[in-house]
Amino acid sequence: MLKLAAIAALVCITSAGLNPFGLMGGLVHNALTGANQAVHQSLDIAGKHADIQTHLAYGIIGKVLGENNIIHKVLGGANQAAHSVKNSRDFTGKVVLVTLSNSGLAEGTIKLFSILGANLVITGTNATHLAEIAQLAQQQSPTHNNKPLRVVADLTKTADIERLVGEIVYKFGRLDAMITFANSYPLLNITDTNLIDVWDQTLRADLRATAELFHLTYPLLEKARGSATVVATIAGVAPVAVELAYSTAKPGIQHMVKNLALELGAKGVRVNTINVGAITPDGTNLGNPVCALIKKKAPLGHLGVPLDVAKGAVFLSSSDAKYITGANLVIDGGIIYNYPSYFK
Ligand SMILES: *[C@@H]1O[C@H](CO)[C@@H](O)[C@H](O)[C@H]1NC(C)=O
Ligand SMILES: *[C@@H]1O[C@H](CO)[C@@H](O)[C@H](O)[C@H]1NC(C)=O
Repeated sequence: MLKLAAIAALVCITSAGLNPFGLMGGLVHNALTGANQAVHQSLDIAGKHADIQTHLAYGIIGKVLGENNIIHKVLGGANQAAHSVKNSRDFTGKVVLVTLSNSGLAEGTIKLFSILGANLVITGTNATHLAEIAQLAQQQSPTHNNKPLRVVADLTKTADIERLVGEIVYKFGRLDAMITFANSYPLLNITDTNLIDVWDQTLRADLRATAELFHLTYPLLEKARGSATVVATIAGVAPVAVELAYSTAKPGIQHMVKNLALELGAKGVRVNTINVGAITPDGTNLGNPVCALIKKKAPLGHLGVPLDVAKGAVFLSSSDAKYITGANLVIDGGIIYNYPSYFK
């Protein structure tokens, strides 16, 4: 596409002798079109050729017009913007931690960061599952041999978080982005006899673990001027009757993120939340009646897949989101607006 833009620009130059404004207008138009196309291509993970073609177009126009004219500078500016957007999704050399990676939801995010070149650290309680995900991530990495660092850890335990952070420092000495997934959502209501046990366990896994993880990772995030994205669910936005503790913990997480955004903003660390709706591994309802209902009620008319969440996490961790902190990105197909009637 960019090659075509360059050819169009040359045609414009050869036929524009009688109309200098046509030349200017045409070139500027083509430059902007070229920039737009570059942005489009940046969204295509496989669009490696965009770089070469952009340089080709830039080189040809530069040669025709000389290096220091205004059009050259305009094109340079547009190309720089396009490049920075494109490079925004290049995580080569960046260290990205994804926690509680036992969930299928986290798996999509791990794979996408691997595709984008990140050095991953993944952690969860199930060693077998971590090994499986690490293998998949490695296969997807650009070199096919960038294997995630695996740390088997239970983040409700201080010693485990300390060990996790220690291993990150030992192996990489830096941390650019952290994405946390928590997936403890037991059914609970106020009449349950085991209320307090489940309450403590859930708030420990969701709130305490997240607070302590930030406590131990913020120096690294600060050093890298990095970001953290806390993945929660729309239970953080609207209550779920049968999940008392979970539905209390999630808004707690949201508010923690906003506090952290205030506190860490001055240190250049961005902190955001993603709230997900119904996500299944393949977007089908898996025979689950609640998922079937959500699918029917979601404005977009379908369920989400882990990649939908992964793209949000990648965006919030990218330089494209450098002015976004304390935000709540809801990835739910719009179900939040029909949500309270879920169980009716
Ligand atoms: C751990 O992961 C393996 C592989 O995915 C799975 O077969 C096993 O059921 C998991 N164990 C637990 C306790 O969840
Ligand atoms: C409370 O939850 C239990 C399941 O944990 C359920 O059997 C019971 O019907 C619920 N009670 C109310 C009042 O919702």
